[in-house]
Amino acid sequence: MQILESPAAMRSWSDEQHACGLRIGLVPTMGALHAGHLALIGVARERCDVVAVSIFVNPLQFNRTDDFEHYPRSVDDDLEQCRAAGVGAVYAPTQQSMYPPGFETHVEPGALAEPLEGAGRPGHFRGVVTVVCKLFNAVGPDVAVFGQKDFQQLAVIRRMVADLDMGVEICSVSTVREHDDLALSSRNRRLSPDQRAAAVVVVRALDVIEVAISAGSRDAVELQRLAADVVATEATARLEYVDVVDPHTLLAPTDTNALLLAVIAVWFGDVRLIDNRLIDARALTDDRANATVFDDFA
Ligand code: PAJ
Repeated sequence: MQILESPAAMRSWSDEQHACGLRIGLVPTMGALHAGHLALIGVARERCDVVAVSIFVNPLQFNRTDDFEHYPRSVDDDLEQCRAAGVGAVYAPTQQSMYPPGFETHVEPGALAEPLEGAGRPGHFRGVVTVVCKLFNAVGPDVAVFGQKDFQQLAVIRRMVADLDMGVEICSVSTVREHDDLALSSRNRRLSPDQRAAAVVVVRALDVIEVAISAGSRDAVELQRLAADVVATEATARLEYVDVVDPHTLLAPTDTNALLLAVIAVWFGDVRLIDNRLIDARALTDDRANATVFDDFA
């Protein structure tokens, strides 16, 4: 496994692979790898001949310096996991090589980046799409794989790739969860045992929304109240937002008997967790199976 630390080194590895006719799959990460990241690597291996994983904690996408400073870092363990997973190259650029003095150009996302995570974390998606654009330029992937756990991120990146004619195929992978259904996240390791036990309310809140929708409720305020009541059962949890939106626009749905996206962000101390769930209100009202409807998001 190659470990490459600058855009130039990365690009020359990539050129070699393409010269051999190999298709490159990229899994962009910020490290602290877990089974969710490994699922993305697995899909990249299925779709491509060689896999590159990038590990870079991107300061541009953190709107709070304490979150950037406390973001978990475990490079040796990450490299070991990549080796075991059959990764061909790890791209771990230095801060200096990504953002040398004088750096000033950014990619500006549009309306998809404004609500939800964009509202709570100003500048976050501008930082995400800028670094993903830079990673794509250095790695030159044929395919890039992202998780549905960060649903809005996936939507914003798909939009950028289409709008800027990037020619990278974007694949998404459904969220990998713990035994109690909490979504795996690098930030989970910063939770105290009590906070970790309480964090399951994030999933329970999505459950009550899904149950209420299947029982016919479509009123956003009512759905938000039901979810907020669940979060309030845990004293350590502080709800930032919960909403039900159109998964295509991430805004209030114009048709509520459609595919809907429930989204939530909850704080436990200074750790912020997000989750989401696609709910097919058509299938639920039509009493059809709910399992096979998400092809357009896969
Ligand atoms: P990071 O949080 O490390 O996540 C890297 C990728 O793993 C993202 O595509 C994310 O959606 C996916 N992922 C995280 N948890 C997952 C889970 N439980 N199941 C499935 N996939 C999961 O997202 C980022 O890094 C950064 O914003 C990045 C895109 C690398 C740009 O800096």
